[in-house]
Amino acid sequence: MLRVVVCVSGGGTNLQAIIDGIEQGAISDTEIVRVVCNNPGARALERAKAAGIGSACVSPKDFGDRERFEEALIRTVQEASPDLIVLAGFMVKVPAELIRKYENRIINIHPSLIPAFCGKGYYGLRVHEAALARGVKITGATVHFVDEGMDTGPIIEQKAVKVYENDTPETLQRRVMEEAEWVLLPRCINLIAAGRVKVENGRVTVVE
Ligand code: GAR
Repeated sequence: MLRVVVCVSGGGTNLQAIIDGIEQGAISDTEIVRVVCNNPGARALERAKAAGIGSACVSPKDFGDRERFEEALIRTVQEASPDLIVLAGFMVKVPAELIRKYENRIINIHPSLIPAFCGKGYYGLRVHEAALARGVKITGATVHFVDEGMDTGPIIEQKAVKVYENDTPETLQRRVMEEAEWVLLPRCINLIAAGRVKVENGRVTVVE
């Protein structure tokens, strides 16, 4: 059983896709052992509760400084003894210590085709605003391992999505989620659970 900790901040639709994927058999040999959230008002917490998954909220507002917040975050994740940490709309910069401890065992979903529209300042709806402003005709989503840079880790899989002329950031965000994110993230977790994802020299291969 792959023990997964899912880190979330908001709506939790990607968390839901993982929960559904496990329930419906699209993801095998995987258990979500804890949901970790930085925002007490997140809808994602309700989704975890409804699925009977234990969650923990670690909000920066409850700590005097960044260092204490990071310590608490690391402790809360580690307590659950994960094999894999999934950032599913987690809007917190992951502490470097955690990244070092879980090298090639933290994955993130990003709502663009990396290296487009990623890095500092590109998250959530902003990514889609930037894609529309640039006038790209194709965008998509990327699942990648997390290293100490911003959206720079080894890419596991990507999926393209068409942009339409009358798209708003909201309609584009929704299409990227439906057509790419909710498919890609469960698929990558399933591949990792099956031991099929190898990282070598910063590049991923999916083995048979
Ligand atoms: C998703 O679109 C995810 O790709 C994005 O935030 C949204 C979270 O939605 N993540 C990033 O922008 C990370 N840089 P959700 O809470 O409904 O899963």
